[in-house]
Amino acid sequence: TQMRSIVQNMPKAELHIHIEGSLEPELIFALAQRNGVKLAYQSVEELRAAYAFTNLQSFLDIYYAGASVLLKEQDFYDMTMAYLQRAKADHVRHAEIFFDPQTHTARGVPMADVINGIHRAATEGPISAKLILCFLRHLSEEDALATLEAALPFREQFIGVGLDSSEVGHPPEKFARVFARARDLGLHLVAHAGEEGPPAYIETAVDLLKVERVDHGVRCLEDPALTRRLAALRMPLTVCPLSNTKLRVFDQMKDHNLLDLLDAGLVAMVNSDDPAYFGGYMNDNFVAVFDALPLGLAHAHQLARNSFEASFLPAQEKQKYL
Ligand code: HPA
Ligand code: ZN
Repeated sequence: TQMRSIVQNMPKAELHIHIEGSLEPELIFALAQRNGVKLAYQSVEELRAAYAFTNLQSFLDIYYAGASVLLKEQDFYDMTMAYLQRAKADHVRHAEIFFDPQTHTARGVPMADVINGIHRAATEGPISAKLILCFLRHLSEEDALATLEAALPFREQFIGVGLDSSEVGHPPEKFARVFARARDLGLHLVAHAGEEGPPAYIETAVDLLKVERVDHGVRCLEDPALTRRLAALRMPLTVCPLSNTKLRVFDQMKDHNLLDLLDAGLVAMVNSDDPAYFGGYMNDNFVAVFDALPLGLAHAHQLARNSFEASFLPAQEKQKYL
């Protein structure tokens, strides 16, 4: 349809992409072979067949298993370059890429290899890209603090910090000190909140962590006062439609609240989250929501505009897209 080609071809920014979630089964097997890593699956088909998730944790278990093939700087480079090339095909002009160093340093991979590999691809790749270091919230704040200190020799290679992994039971306030430290270092701050967790987690991410964007945030609509406040703050929500249906945050795409978020005046936009696991990259997400929800041309433009407004691009760069 005409709407489809408009959303596919329009320039956009991607602000919620976990680079380890862009690792396709074919690349997982190729890297396993290259590095002599033994996988629990016999084939690409068998691995793909295991991608039947029932909630966030059922996905995270497989996502961390997939990441176990990443050992060398070149592996991180190859993964990131593959993503950037795929994103360019979807008319993504700028990407702010999450990475999970603890997933790798816990296996003995040096921090230098993780950051240098991803960053080298980000500078050589076909589109603009910046990095955001995420802390795993199922681990302790001490572990997060040590991770931030270990990353400081590479301070110029990432622009911010985030918070991901198992949400329920690990509220933002658990990481108040490490976010305060990151803030002192001049880093941008974001956190996953209100994906599976309650609206109260969105509130503490904003008030205690002082985040500049909320990742997911879709459960904010359960709290009308919070919704009004997020709209007044122009607090961006990095929404991930295919992720939300695959992880059963919403049963079906027609149940997704993206249109309600926009109608509430929220700065929401579309992102892919973990495209290799959730059935698609940016344009697959756009097509899925535009097929399922009564969204039109004005919504398409608003989503694209919101993606650039919410980005951490310098004001002058941002202006070109607004
Ligand atoms: N939520 C939490 N942690 C994650 C996600 C997510 O959607 N993707 C990768 N790690
Ligand atoms: Zn995410």
